Amino acid sequence: MYIKGVGMTKFDYSQKPWWKQAFEAALEALEDASMGISDMDAIVISAVSSAAGGEHQTHKVSVVSDIFKTNVPIIELPSVCAGGGVAVWTANRLGFNNVLVVSGEKLVDNRSEVTVDWILSASERMIEQTEGLLFPVQNALVWQQYMQKYGASMDDLALVAFKNHQNAALNPKAYFYQRPVSLDKIKNSPVVASPLRLMDCSLSVNGGAAAVLTRDKTDVKIIGSGFATDHMLTFGRKDLHHFLATGKAAHQAFQQAGLKPENIEIAEVHDAFTSVELFSYEDLGLCAEGKGAALIRSGKINRDGALPVNTSGGLKAKGHPISVTGLAQIYEITKQIRGRCEKERQINPVPRTGLCHNIGGTGGSVTVHILQRTV
Ligand code: COA
Repeated sequence: MYIKGVGMTKFDYSQKPWWKQAFEAALEALEDASMGISDMDAIVISAVSSAAGGEHQTHKVSVVSDIFKTNVPIIELPSVCAGGGVAVWTANRLGFNNVLVVSGEKLVDNRSEVTVDWILSASERMIEQTEGLLFPVQNALVWQQYMQKYGASMDDLALVAFKNHQNAALNPKAYFYQRPVSLDKIKNSPVVASPLRLMDCSLSVNGGAAAVLTRDKTDVKIIGSGFATDHMLTFGRKDLHHFLATGKAAHQAFQQAGLKPENIEIAEVHDAFTSVELFSYEDLGLCAEGKGAALIRSGKINRDGALPVNTSGGLKAKGHPISVTGLAQIYEITKQIRGRCEKERQINPVPRTGLCHNIGGTGGSVTVHILQRTV
């Protein structure tokens, strides 16, 4: 399908409910598409909504029917951090003419234990979590293995965080907009799960994002769409240094697009942790196995490099409102390849082909989408 419009709220700690975040993003996407809700044949919504008490809602499709005053089919697809990507993957295959894909989360509320518990419900609870394997810990262990095998260092991860914070400082919708963070501050941030520091972790925020998909030709086409899954138990996997599902989803997307990784001109890569961004370059084929550190050191993926990665600021510095992230990536790449980003952060020359990589859990579900400008 084609993308006709995209919308996104600012990512922050706003206490608007999930449906309001979704509503605001959807209105922007519909306006961008010059369409109304009555033009939509279906809606796909993805949200986990961590809000406790009365705001928690398991019948989200009815809430969405209510706020949009529509009776079309509404499909709810929660898939934790990969929810947005899975929603786009599904909407692209449903067979409807016009589909609104939308997500909204109020992940961070005034009780951090609720937020943490919701995030943790996306990983294995009985075996891994009881042993203390929370997300930062799992990822620290994976990164330790990677460092040993390929000789990368924590300085390489600091470069990933620095790049994403520099990009976010230019993005008005990013949490860290106009607040650059120095390399020194990154390298000296508190240790969360050794060797990962605070500045290696994604930032939990609230927000919404949306896209209008259509069968009618527009200026942006989804030319590749891949989706793969993997076992829940991180340490039951064969290879600890990589996420197998990323490789499989990328392979599907590139095959469908008839392209190779070297044809990608811009990418949003799922940096749930800086380490995940680094080895995902390899899983996506953007560099050879074991060469992720060399890629970040080379500067090629900086904003002024040949292949800018996470121009939005990524999950690290734009923020990570769980299900919303996959759609926020579609928002960023669509804006960049249309040449419609704010002046100082628009990549020039305007890229034509971009990739969005969205992971759920510690590599348990992964989508890869390749978008291309048609004009
Ligand atoms: N990067 C930069 N700043 C961060 C941050 C991060 N990752 N996480 C929190 N902060 C900032 C907050 O904005 C806040 O700043 P403020 O005082 O100026 O408002 C301050 O640090 C304290 O925030 P708080 O939420 O209390 O931090 P915390 O210590 O409870 O949590 C982490 C920090 C790293 C443990 C938490 O952000 C985390 O678990 N991140 C990973 C989330 C995750 O696993 N997501 C799923 C991925 S698959």
